[in-house]
Amino acid sequence: MNTDAPGIFTGLRGAVGAFNAILLEHAEAIVAGAEQAGLPVILQISQNAVRYHGSLDPFGAACLSMAGAASVPVLVHLDHIEDETLVHQGLALGIRSIMFDAASSAYEENVTRTRAVTERCHAAGCWVEAELGEIGGKDGAHAPGVRTDPAEAAAFVAATGVDSLAVAVGSSHAMAGRDAVLDDDLIGRLAGAVPVPLVLHGSSGVPDDGVRRAVGRGIRKVNVGTRLNQVLTGAVRATLAERESLTDPRRYLSPGRDRMRDEVARLVQLLAGA
Ligand code: G3H
Ligand code: ZN
Repeated sequence: MNTDAPGIFTGLRGAVGAFNAILLEHAEAIVAGAEQAGLPVILQISQNAVRYHGSLDPFGAACLSMAGAASVPVLVHLDHIEDETLVHQGLALGIRSIMFDAASSAYEENVTRTRAVTERCHAAGCWVEAELGEIGGKDGAHAPGVRTDPAEAAAFVAATGVDSLAVAVGSSHAMAGRDAVLDDDLIGRLAGAVPVPLVLHGSSGVPDDGVRRAVGRGIRKVNVGTRLNQVLTGAVRATLAERESLTDPRRYLSPGRDRMRDEVARLVQLLAGA
C-alpha cells in the first residue's frame, strides 16, 4: 500500500530502510523484500536514475503502482534532487516525499533554495528531506571527513522548515567496501539538537554494527543504494559465468532480483530491531 512520510515515521521503532531503484527489478525486489520481512520500506528514485531513464514517468508511475499493490506500507521518494523542475514533476506525478539536495551550495544559498522548495512541497502535502554538510562520494570519491555541525543543523531546519535532515557523520556514497567509521557521538549530539528525523546516506559502506549503533543514537532513515547494485551484479556475473550461452535477460536477472529481495529483507529487519 502507498503511504506518506508521516505514516512511515509515526510510531517507528528503530529506522526505516530506504533503497534506491534504478531498474524495475530493483523496485520489484525492494517491495518483495519488505513484504518478506513484513515491514514498511522506502523505495527511492534518484535524480541520476531519472536521467538514466530520460524522464521520471513512466518509471516513477510504475514504482507508485507497485507500492499501491504491496501488502506493506511503501513510501515512494525522490532522492538527491538538485533540479527544482524535477521537484515539480514529482509532485505532478503524485510523489509525496522528496529529498532536495542543495548541499553543494554555500550555506545561505542552500537555505534559500531549500526553503522555497519546502514551501512549494508543503502546499502540495509533500514531505521534504534536505542535506547539510555535503556527504561526499556521489561521483565515486570517498570523502568521509565531512561533518555536519549540530548548531548549524538546528538553525538550518528552523530556517527552511524541512521535515527531515541528511547529515554527514562519516559515511560516503558509493563505497565498494564496508569500512566506514561513523561518528557515534556526533550522531547523538545531532539527534539532541535537531527536532526532525535524521537520515544516514552512503549506508552501503557502513558495517552492520555501525548501522545498528547509528540507529541507537538517533538515525531514523537509512539510505542504501550501492549494496543492492553489488548484490545484483554479483549474481548476474555468477549466473553468466556458469552459463555463458544465456541470452534471455530473465534467466540472469532473476537470481539478481532474488538476491536483492533477500538483502532488503535482511536490512529492514536489522533496522527495525536496532
Ligand atoms: O541517497 C542514496 C544513498 O545515500 C545511497 O548511498 O549507494 O553509498 O549506499 P550508497
Ligand atoms: Zn545519498
